[in-house]
Amino acid sequence: MNDSIVVQARNVNFAFGEGEVRKQVLFDNNLDIRRGELVIMTGPSGSGKTTLLTLIGGLRSTQEGSLKVLGQELSGLTDRDRVAVRRRLGFIFQLHNLFDSLTAIENVRMSMELHPYETADMVGRAREMLEKLGLGERIQYKPHALSGGQRQRVAIARALVNRPALILADEPTAALDKKSSRDVVDLLKALTREEGSTILMVTHDSRILDVADRIVNMVDGHIASDVAVRESLRIIELLKKSAVFKQLSPTEALNCAEKMSKEESPAQKVVFRQGDVGDKFYLIEKGAVDVIVGAGEAGRIVATLQAGDFFGEAALLTGETRNASILAREDCVFFTMSKENFQQTLASSETFEQQFRKVVFQRQSAG
Ligand SMILES: Nc1ncnc2c1ncn2[C@@H]1O[C@H](COP(=O)(O)OP(=O)(O)O)[C@@H](O)[C@H]1O
Ligand SMILES: [Mg+2]
Repeated sequence: MNDSIVVQARNVNFAFGEGEVRKQVLFDNNLDIRRGELVIMTGPSGSGKTTLLTLIGGLRSTQEGSLKVLGQELSGLTDRDRVAVRRRLGFIFQLHNLFDSLTAIENVRMSMELHPYETADMVGRAREMLEKLGLGERIQYKPHALSGGQRQRVAIARALVNRPALILADEPTAALDKKSSRDVVDLLKALTREEGSTILMVTHDSRILDVADRIVNMVDGHIASDVAVRESLRIIELLKKSAVFKQLSPTEALNCAEKMSKEESPAQKVVFRQGDVGDKFYLIEKGAVDVIVGAGEAGRIVATLQAGDFFGEAALLTGETRNASILAREDCVFFTMSKENFQQTLASSETFEQQFRKVVFQRQSAG
């Protein structure tokens, strides 16, 4: 397995109970999380998010499929070996189980006992983590003297103080106000950047989606979508610059972005030939292409297109073969959409379809 893959799930199934009361709650889940990624998992209540998280965390034994965490296959591990995996992780779960008789800083220090720190260093690190979470004034308070949100933040400090390579968080901001939620997610994001920590976080909090590298959506025990947020945002930026797409609403643009994939073409490569069957729509992210009508000696360049321009729509709109060839002038990056998705996108918005046809018409009459 590639070192940079921190979590790899393959065909993971899980059921609670046996015989008559057996109830399968996870179905055929596949997931890859790379080092340094912050992945947000969303989905309706009861869809299986917590169950998947507890499997990844080695808190339950796996039943079917393969689950590799920090390079270790969890399937078939003894309970003892699972405990060893758990020690390398940071858990932020809702039942935070602080020790009532210990102060905030003592609770945080408890989780450091199994790790090789000097005592003075331990106190310093525990204090620093509590300060980052806005609890600098409360380090000597016991849980009963703290609010629910403050207790939650102590539990978060405890999970993070050992700088675990993988952090699993189940609705970590549910009990927090807006400011504390922001502090917590900013801290998590900083850990991914500064320590290369990897984070899988379940949340319904739409205010914090912006920190995600990817959003995974779980529905009925199955990962229904897995979207690279930054890539989608880049595509949306590009769509907004493009004459035909700039009319899309943010939701329509996101739907569109989710259907596009990235493709590269070196300079001088023929992207497609006149007479080919049309299978894809292309939007240029980088580089430039020549549109050539005719072949060989008779071929002539009728247009040159660049970043923000699109091509390949004509054959998809008319059902005829490609009416020109496309040659990459330079190294190019395209975002492409399959014929089916392109037609669905057009059909989904009447204003978009009109706008699209207008731009295409203007372009054809100009050329
Ligand atoms: N310990 C358990 N025993 C039996 N069923 C459970 C148990 N924990 C969760 N479930 C069931 O598994 C399904 C998924 O639950 P869960 O993973 O907690 O979903 P989510 O975190 O997405 O709300 C639900 O139908 C829930 O009732
Ligand atoms: Mg849950």
